[in-house]
Amino acid sequence: MTQIEARRRAGKCRWNVRQRFCEWKMPRIRDGRPTRWGWIVRHVSGLQLGRGTDIGAFTYINAKNGVVIEEAVQVGSHCSIYSVSTIDDKEGPVRLKRNCRIGSHTVIMPGVTIGENTIVGAMSFVNNSLPANSVALGIPARVVRRLPAPRIGRRMGGRNAEGLAAVSRKGRCR
Ligand SMILES: CC(C)(COP(=O)(O)OP(=O)(O)OC[C@H]1O[C@@H](n2cnc3c(N)ncnc32)[C@H](O)[C@@H]1OP(=O)(O)O)[C@@H](O)C(=O)NCCC(=O)NCCS
Repeated sequence: MTQIEARRRAGKCRWNVRQRFCEWKMPRIRDGRPTRWGWIVRHVSGLQLGRGTDIGAFTYINAKNGVVIEEAVQVGSHCSIYSVSTIDDKEGPVRLKRNCRIGSHTVIMPGVTIGENTIVGAMSFVNNSLPANSVALGIPARVVRRLPAPRIGRRMGGRNAEGLAAVSRKGRCR
């Protein structure tokens, strides 16, 4: 029996969710040092990280002007999230809204907000905000498709927005 199954049977985890979300804990983040998952943040004090988030290895986040990553957001590996871009002198807060997903090797520029549930294709360059419930991709990223229905919390056991609230502060399922 897997650990997640054992927890579920013991009534500690009501959902049949993947273990990493049921057991989600706020990672220890030190400025400029890889987390245990291998992603790096500069200006850590500017980062707000929501519960149930999943960030891939080698992703770099510069939070100098604020980066908010809301609940259940998934960021692939090798992404760059910039609230400051010194090459072209751009600055501005970045917000990744609930349950959006960012494909690997994507660059997100200062001032960008990605809407709820939106999926950004791998290797995109996002220099403008993207609406909710869309698929966007390319250089620069453009919306190519609308998603039919909100998929909030899909990765967390198929729950809706209220389902997310059932994850306690420590990230454990109630
Ligand atoms: C954008 C994405 C979600 C679309 O998936 P999908 O709905 O299954 O779309 P398809 O694979 O059928 O592709 C549809 C079209 O978009 C193109 N396309 C797909 N992803 C693309 C991308 N990232 N950049 C440019 N074009 C892309 C396809 O070539 C195809 O073009 P065509 O219609 O001319 O043949 C997916 O391709 C993607 O990029 N996912 C990210 C995966 C990732 O990064 N995973 C690692 C982290 S866990």
